[in-house]
Amino acid sequence: MAEVSGKKWVLMVTAQTPTNIAVIKYWGKRDEKLILPINDSISVTLDPSHLCTTTTVAVSPDFTHDRMWLNGKEIPLSGGRYQNCLRELRARASEVEDEEKSSSAAGFACLVFSLAKPKNVKEDQSKLSSIARQGSGSACRSLYGGFVKWIMGKEKNGSDSVAVQLADEKHWNDLVIIIAVVSLRQNETSSTSGMLETVETSMLIQHRAKEVVPKRIIQMEEAIKNRGFPSFARLSCADSNQFHAVCLDTSPPIFYMNDTSHRIISCVEKWNRFEGTPQVAYTFDAGPKAVLISHNRKTAALLLQRLLFHFPPNSDTDLNSYW
Ligand code: DP6
Repeated sequence: MAEVSGKKWVLMVTAQTPTNIAVIKYWGKRDEKLILPINDSISVTLDPSHLCTTTTVAVSPDFTHDRMWLNGKEIPLSGGRYQNCLRELRARASEVEDEEKSSSAAGFACLVFSLAKPKNVKEDQSKLSSIARQGSGSACRSLYGGFVKWIMGKEKNGSDSVAVQLADEKHWNDLVIIIAVVSLRQNETSSTSGMLETVETSMLIQHRAKEVVPKRIIQMEEAIKNRGFPSFARLSCADSNQFHAVCLDTSPPIFYMNDTSHRIISCVEKWNRFEGTPQVAYTFDAGPKAVLISHNRKTAALLLQRLLFHFPPNSDTDLNSYW
């Protein structure tokens, strides 16, 4: 880095972050600023070769200020969350810089290198997970593959509110996840404002966070450890349904699912009941799209067959775009 100081340079790194789907939901914060949740949550991380977010970071001493583009469109960075993340990243960058007794190179460049090639992976992962949390709560679970638990923590400063890996991506790799995009319309209520309204107005959310979720977390961890699909599926469906129940219990009520979402639930419930044991689990987040988790490739193929039977594409649909 000493060689490049004083000369014009731009450093670029591209990173891919996987998407995670919560099977025990995070809904409600006890601290809005630090993004600290009112209950633990558990998610499954999707294979990044199928679905992920790609971000390129460029740093240069010639850049005068921070800028960001999302899907090709420049977006303002004035929001508190971006500022919090950037502040944390800069602090992290100067830590790395100090450690390495580096010369005058920009802190961000060190950060980029440290992200690309972490020295102490464990320490870096939990630090990065806490920075990600301050951008968006559920994002902190995406720092790990496989099954991840976001521990709510007790500390006021959020130091113990971290994501931990429960099992890696190889542990239960015959699960197949199908995402049914029910509507392309943007949600009317964002997760952030929705959960704030729920915490302020719902009584059911208190019961959920204090009584229901702690027990479910223990059962879900057990189901994941033993690869027990029936228990995993029952808990996932029940938790998704309770999350939407607390949304309905919010004043004014929040509707994330639509008629198609409800039809998908009925279809899966009927099939599972007919077979006598769950074949597929469903879970819905803050929108109508269905995330369907099947036990293996065979049940995934049967599920697709059922979905196409109940929701056939229009005759003019290009099948390549449909999938
Ligand atoms: C329904 O992480 O988007 O997907 O922390 O305010 O950014 P903020 O909310 P966000 O909420 C996700 C809610 C959820 C459930 C989950 O992923 O656990």
